[in-house]
This record gives sequence, C-alpha cells and structure tokens, in this order.
Amino acid sequence: MPTPPLAGGTAGPTHLRPLLDTVLTALHDGAARRDGPLPAGGPDTVTHRTDRATGPLIPDHGTGAHHALRTLVTALTEGAADPAHPHCAAHLHTPPLAVAAAADLAASALNPSMDSWDQAPAASALEASLTAALAAEIYPHAPHPDALVTTGGTEANQLALLLARERHGPVQTICAANAHHSIGRAAWILGLPAPVVIPAHTGTMDLPALREALIRHEGPLLVTATAGTTDTGHIDPLDAIADLTAAHGAELHIDAAYGGPLLFSPTHRHLVHGLQRAHSVTLDLHKLGWQPASAGILAVPHHQDLAVLHHHAPYLNAGDDTDAGLPDLLGRSLRTTRRPDALKIAVTLQALGRDGLADLIDRTLAAAHQLADLITATPHLELYERPTISTVLFRPTGADDTTVATIRRTLLTRGHAVLGRARTDHRLWLKATLLNPHTTPEDLRRLTTLVTHAVTGLREGSTPR
Ligand SMILES: Cc1ncc(COP(=O)(O)O)c(C=O)c1O
Repeated sequence: MPTPPLAGGTAGPTHLRPLLDTVLTALHDGAARRDGPLPAGGPDTVTHRTDRATGPLIPDHGTGAHHALRTLVTALTEGAADPAHPHCAAHLHTPPLAVAAAADLAASALNPSMDSWDQAPAASALEASLTAALAAEIYPHAPHPDALVTTGGTEANQLALLLARERHGPVQTICAANAHHSIGRAAWILGLPAPVVIPAHTGTMDLPALREALIRHEGPLLVTATAGTTDTGHIDPLDAIADLTAAHGAELHIDAAYGGPLLFSPTHRHLVHGLQRAHSVTLDLHKLGWQPASAGILAVPHHQDLAVLHHHAPYLNAGDDTDAGLPDLLGRSLRTTRRPDALKIAVTLQALGRDGLADLIDRTLAAAHQLADLITATPHLELYERPTISTVLFRPTGADDTTVATIRRTLLTRGHAVLGRARTDHRLWLKATLLNPHTTPEDLRRLTTLVTHAVTGLREGSTPR
C-alpha cells in the first residue's frame, strides 16, 4: 500500500477533495437510511447493526481510505441521534452550522496545537483576539478582560473553582439545587469542601436562603449562580445575587453555559443582565452558539486573573524563548495538546455577524414559545410553564411518572423523537430543548402529535418497552 497522503501542505487539499466527496456522500446516504432523528430499535439493535455494518475495525490488511470512510461514516450517520432533525431535542446538543463544521475541517487538516507558539503561530494569534473579543462581550467595561477556550462548561466551571481556590485558599462553594452537576464535581476534584446547596424551589436560586448561607458559613466563599439551568432553562436573579455576594464579601461565578449567548440578542440580552458582575463566567458555544463540540469559554474581567495558570515546561516555553518574544501559551489551559477550537468559533461569528447570531437566537427562542403555545392548545398535554430560554417541559395530563418515562423511551426506541426528561415540582416531565433554528411550527405540531399518539398507544396497551 502506498504511504497515505497527508491533509496539510499544498498537496493536502488535492488529496482531501475526493475523500471529502466520499464523506459527504456517506453523510447523505446514512441520514437518508435513518430517515428520522435517531435510529429505530433501541441499544441492542443499533449496536448489532453498527457492528455488522462496520466489520473488523483493525483488519490485518487495510480496506483503503474510501472504503473505510464510506463504511464507517455511513454506519455512524445511520445510527446517529442527529440534532439537525427538529425532533432531536432532548439535550443541550446543538445542530452545528455547516460553516462551523467546514472550519473545523481546516483545523483538523492544519492541526495547530495550542500549547506552544511554534505549533500554532497564526492560530494562537487568532485565539488571543477571539478570547479578548468574547471576554469584552461579557465584561464590556473591564479594561483587560480575557477568556480561555475550554472543552465545555464542565471544564470552564472547574477552572473557575480552581481560580477561586488559588486566589483565596480552600473556598466554600455555595450553589443552588438547580446548579449543574459539574460544580460539585469540580469541588471534589480540587479537594474543596462539598458545595453548600441552597434551595431553588421556584427553579431559581432562593435569595433568602442565599443570604442565610452567606451569613452562616465562614469565608472564603464562592457563590455559583446559573444563567440557563440544564433542566428548565431558568436564569438565576443575577443582579440580586451579585448584590448579596458583594455585600457579604463573597465572590461570584456564573455558569452561563446555556444562557450566556443571549448577550448577542438585543431582544433577549436583558435576561442575562448582571453577568458582567461575576468574577468569572462560563459560556458554551456548543449550545446556543451552534458549534460542533467542543467550544467552551471561561471569561474573567482581568487577564491577570489567569496568571496563576502559568506553567513551565522547558520544551514548550523555555524562559529565553519567552524573553525573546515567543508567546507563552501553556498557561492558557490545563491541557497540553489542544485543538484550535477558536477557528470555527471565529469563522462563525465573522460569517454571521452580530445580527446573524441574534437572528438565530431569536428564532430559537420563538420556536420554544410556539411549542409552549401548541402544548397549551393540545388537549391531554400539560405545559410546565412558559420557557425562559428554549427549554419546554410538558407531560400528558394526569399521567404518572412511569408513563412519562415510558413515553420517552417509546419514542426513542421507535426512532421517532429524542426528548429529554426532567424532574421538577416533584413530577417527571418530558423536556424539549430547542436549539434548531430551522424548526418550523409544522415540525412542532408533528412532535406533539407523536407524543399524544404514544400516550394513546400506551393507554390502549400497544406499548413497546
Ligand atoms: C448549565 C450547564 N453548565 C455546564 C454544563 C456542562 O457543559 P459541557 O457538557 O459542555 O461540559 C451544562 C451541560 O449541559 C449545563 O447545562
């Protein structure tokens, strides 16, 4: 077998083009075979079909690039839960924009590694400009805001707790019951006390309980609020929380993994007012930013806040290299080798502009309100509440929790819809997390019909597992 061609250099694109053709055909064919938001049949069927379609993954003799691409990409696509389908709406699992996926191809072909300048000369410059620009969106009045690119909200939250620990020693985190699980995990990883968890009876952080916790617990204290909760999309009262934390000498981190991009919408940015008062902010552009994973951000008001992450490894940032002007990148992450995720984000933001991004956000939120309207108008369906961002909770009227869980699994197993589940108000709800800006009212009507038919089927006893 001849030595396989490389992706980079002037010859790379010539070799890539026919391979991409094969990939694109496989993406199309796999999606056509699936013909829905996810493959039908449930885990055993999908595993069996995938194993059969892919064949031995480490054969003695290779099958060649086109064959392997066709086989595996088709199988993966056929078996995908595809967020580009309007009925794939369980999680904060975004349908990536084509422009972002195309940019990601360039990142793979060039393969800059963001741990030293000599592996990423232009990519590191682009990342520095992008992170400064994104940080300035969050902290418009700070003189030198900065941000790090992370693998997502989990890593960003972990970094936020790490920075707080490095500023103050073993901080006590205070979060509400609506906080993402990564907050507690970060405290555990960092050897910090387990978070004090205060109630969120109405879906958002309970302010009297916060005041009480701030009085009762010894400092140093770090309050973590959420702008866009995972289960309901609620936004904690950010300004009131910032007032309370400041009055008690505590620090504030805001996990705006979901809600942060609302900043780009003149119509909706008031919902996240107060973000700029936090000591750090998590943002995920692989949620309401339509990026392929991963595209997380941790922003801080002053670039010096990140100085504690400085780290020395002579092969990557020798002192004399740094003195001679080679940018020192190692402190920009806890990772070493790192993909240039800034590229796809920058390409997308430039391609769409502020108005284009605002339009996507506004459409997505409008679709959530349309779904809420439809549910309200559908007999036998109960809406939990009007959506704050784009999460809509609903359930068949009068159903018990087991029925709700069974309906979700029925739709999954049939390959009809991917809906999530959330427990709130002591009941289990179906969760539609709308992130697809192409979703039409007709898509939403079909989704509610799928649910009501599944309920009818269940009541008439024709239920699958
Ligand atoms: C509020 C919130 N924070 C953090 C995360 C974690 O983000 P990631 O999955 O990108 O690590 C999520 C994930 O859904 C989330 O909803």
